[in-house]
Amino acid sequence: MELHNAVGIITGASSGIGWATAKRLSGAGAKLVVTARRQERLDQLVEEMSGEAVAVAGSIVDPSLPQGLIDAAIRHFGRLDFVFNNAGIMNVGKVDEVDDDAMTTMIRVNFEAAARLAYAAVKVFKPQGHGDLITTSSILGLKVRPGAAVYSGTKFAIEAMSEALRLELAGTGVRVMVIEPGYTATDLQSHWKPEQKLSLKATKQPVQAADIARAVQFMLEQPNYVVIPRMLMLPMEQTL
Ligand SMILES: NC(=O)c1ccc[n+]([C@@H]2O[C@H](COP(=O)([O-])OP(=O)(O)OC[C@H]3O[C@@H](n4cnc5c(N)ncnc54)[C@H](OP(=O)(O)O)[C@@H]3O)[C@@H](O)[C@H]2O)c1
Repeated sequence: MELHNAVGIITGASSGIGWATAKRLSGAGAKLVVTARRQERLDQLVEEMSGEAVAVAGSIVDPSLPQGLIDAAIRHFGRLDFVFNNAGIMNVGKVDEVDDDAMTTMIRVNFEAAARLAYAAVKVFKPQGHGDLITTSSILGLKVRPGAAVYSGTKFAIEAMSEALRLELAGTGVRVMVIEPGYTATDLQSHWKPEQKLSLKATKQPVQAADIARAVQFMLEQPNYVVIPRMLMLPMEQTL
């Protein structure tokens, strides 16, 4: 895909990977609808980006938001070429400390909302004969670790959904892909307890959000007869 003038939606754009990807794709000439809950962060992002962009604030678990984002892309820019389906949270904890409400909220944010947006997007892409959907999975979409059972479950579900959609849409011009980051320096784990953060300390040089953004751009810019179904990017030191 030629990113210059391409129109895309980026979720989880107020921070971390979504923020860095919005900046990078905007720098490449894409026109963007950016979303997350924090309006002031989105406004700052739009101000800092070089290209055309619109901020639509809201919770990704609001069932009307996915279609609202698509409508905003079409209203402002006339079409939709790609979606970076990236918003997510990571609540971890051993069996005896896990918060059931935080766990089920994570399922809704990481999988239910991502599935809703994925289907809303491919319903636009399929009839127009082109469109790229990239969802943010994780190394924990391929492997598990104690204390992150449900987070892993949401990311395994993203992997399964994306692969099945890729097979269903093969030959239609619609590409369905996942990016699988390892430990990346963002706010994702900022709410963890100090003892939960110990596992992160072993990795002195995490991946940067800008590295993931570069990978996303690479996936989008492949010629239309090529698809990169999965891209795993890890810190050199990560042993998981
Ligand atoms: N960092 C890592 O090590 C790592 C590794 C593998 C995969 N990932 C995945 O990467 C993705 C991005 O995370 P990140 O690392 O960039 O973390 P981050 O800096 O915490 O960003 C998370 C983004 O998701 C948004 N978000 C969370 N809950 C939301 C909700 N209910 N409605 C709308 N937006 C919501 C946040 O915005 P608001 O708070 O403003 O709503 C924020 O923009 C996630 O899917 C995560 O699972 C991260």
